Amino acid sequence: MPKILIIGAGGQIGSELTLKLRDVHGPERVVAADINDKNTDLVNSGIFEIVDAQDYESILNCVKKHDIDTIYLMAAMLSATGEKFPVKAWDLNMDSLFHVLNLAKDNIIKHIFWPSSIAVFGPTTPSKRTPQHTIMEPTTVYGITKQVGERWCEYYHNKYGVDVRSLRYPGIISWKTMPGGGTTDYAVEIYHKAILDKRYASFLSKDTELPMMFMEDAIRATLDIMEAPAETIKIRSSYNLSAISFTPSEISEAIKKHISDFDMSYAPDFRQAIADSWPSSIDDSSARTDWNWAHHFDLEKMTAEMITRLREKYKHSEINS
Ligand code: SER
Repeated sequence: MPKILIIGAGGQIGSELTLKLRDVHGPERVVAADINDKNTDLVNSGIFEIVDAQDYESILNCVKKHDIDTIYLMAAMLSATGEKFPVKAWDLNMDSLFHVLNLAKDNIIKHIFWPSSIAVFGPTTPSKRTPQHTIMEPTTVYGITKQVGERWCEYYHNKYGVDVRSLRYPGIISWKTMPGGGTTDYAVEIYHKAILDKRYASFLSKDTELPMMFMEDAIRATLDIMEAPAETIKIRSSYNLSAISFTPSEISEAIKKHISDFDMSYAPDFRQAIADSWPSSIDDSSARTDWNWAHHFDLEKMTAEMITRLREKYKHSEINS
C-alpha cells in the first residue's frame, strides 16, 4: 500500500502532523523524514529516514524505498531567520518545492501538501480581512519564497495536472512543540514564560494584531484539505486560512485571567517591521465554502488549553528532574 512521507517532520507543524497522520493511517503507512534524528518521539513511533530536502536524490531514494505516493513538504526557513540568511532561505524553500513538484510531474508521487503563509502578503495588501485574491507584495525573503511557490504550485497543477494543495497558515500555537525562527513565535513563548516566570517581554509592540491559530485547528485543516474530493479544491495556489486575530496586549489579558500577577512588557525588535507588513486578519471564506473549513479554538479556549497543558508539562518535568 502506498505511503505518506513528511519532509521536515521534526519541525513545529511537521512533528504534530506526523503523529496525527500515524494515528489516522497507521504508523506503518507514515514515514517521517528530517535532516537530523533528534526528535525521539518521531524516531520511536514509526518509520524514520534522514532526508535532505534540498537533495533530489535523497528524497527520491526515500520515495522509492517506501513506495511513497503523498508528500507533505514541511521543511522551510521562516520569516525571522530568513532575514538573517536570505540566500539560504531562498535555496531551501525553493529547491525543496521544485524537487517535490517534479516528482509529481514525473508521476513518481501523486499528491502534495505544501504550506504557504500569511507572509505572502505585504504592506500594500489590505490588512483587515485580507481577501483571497488581492495585492501581494511581500517584503521578507520568506514571504517571497511562499508567494513564488504558490505561483509554481498553480502552474504545475494547470500545466501538468499535479495534485498540489496548500494553506496560507497564520501563526501557529501549540503546547507540544516550539516554533523556530518566525515572527509569530511570541504567541507561543508567552505561555511558557507565563507559567515559568510570570513575566514576558514581547518582541512585538502592544497593539500589533496578527492572525493566529491553535495547532489542533491547523492540523485538522491540513488533513481536511488533503482528504477533500479533488473537484472541491478550486484554488491551487494556496487557500487563506483563519481562526483568531489578537494583539500582544490581548493575549496578555487572556493569560491574566488564569495568572493574575502575570507581568507583560514590550521590547520590539527587528521582527516588528515584519509583523507590520502582514495583515491583521484574514478572510478565509473560500476555504469555508469550498471544503467546509471551520475553526474550533478562539483566544479564550486556546489560552485555557495552553495553560492547563503547560502546567502539567512543567510539573511533570519538575518531578522527573
Ligand atoms: N509563523 C510564520 C512566521 O512567523 C508565518 O508563517 O514566520
